[in-house]
Amino acid sequence: MRKKIVAGNWKMNLTLEEGIKLSSEIKDFVKNNPLDNLPGKPEVLMFTPFIHLTAVAENAADVQGLGAGAQNCHTEEKGAFTGETSAAMIKSTGAENVLVGHSERRSYFGETDQVLAQKTEIALKHALRPVFCCGEVLDERNAEKHFDVVKEQLEKGLFWLSEDEFAKVVIAYEPVWAIGTGVTASPEQAQEMHAYIRKIIGEKYNATVANNTTILYGGSCNAKNAAELFAKEDVDGGLIGGASLKADDFCTIIKSF
Ligand code: PGA
Repeated sequence: MRKKIVAGNWKMNLTLEEGIKLSSEIKDFVKNNPLDNLPGKPEVLMFTPFIHLTAVAENAADVQGLGAGAQNCHTEEKGAFTGETSAAMIKSTGAENVLVGHSERRSYFGETDQVLAQKTEIALKHALRPVFCCGEVLDERNAEKHFDVVKEQLEKGLFWLSEDEFAKVVIAYEPVWAIGTGVTASPEQAQEMHAYIRKIIGEKYNATVANNTTILYGGSCNAKNAAELFAKEDVDGGLIGGASLKADDFCTIIKSF
């Protein structure tokens, strides 16, 4: 079902103590501002490092609409993969979400479309909601290949799912040139790509599925620009990096629908 979501991607930031403090501040905000009473009735997610996940998921558990997620999971169920974390382990913390295919995973860790399809599959198998990231690099946009690039990422990563499976996935469009750069896509650029993503979902599945898919924008979204991005028809919220590390900024974004 299409929902408004504000998700913080903490990346590799914050000690355990700092992370618990941040999640407690966000929790206090949400307790004082019940999400059902806010415009858009957004859901709020915190994608934390694995170290923080159990504590943050426990902290979020008793607050309606507040949740936790991991930033990655392995493709296999278990075994000799030193340093890796499985979908079942993530689920056992109480977290219910996982990022799949963040551009930093794609570029720094060589995650291919095929690997991301496997990660999506195992996440769904363990009842984790995948937040599947897609987006073009600057050269691809300058060459006007951005629609083709995103289409290929979605076709290879997601469009092999059944309709029922696809309905459980959230998509995050994150133009790589906007991530961590301070250069945000304009609301018009975001809307144009989100509408395109919805169109190709409609072509692959059907109009109902397309209309029910939550599509988040990510890339230098902050307390100042969130409202104009979220005002766009096909932008259902944001995946927030830098601005999710400060409770005040993140809470302003939560109120931006
Ligand atoms: P940013 O990161 O908000 O710091 O640009 C977004 C993301 O990478 O998810």
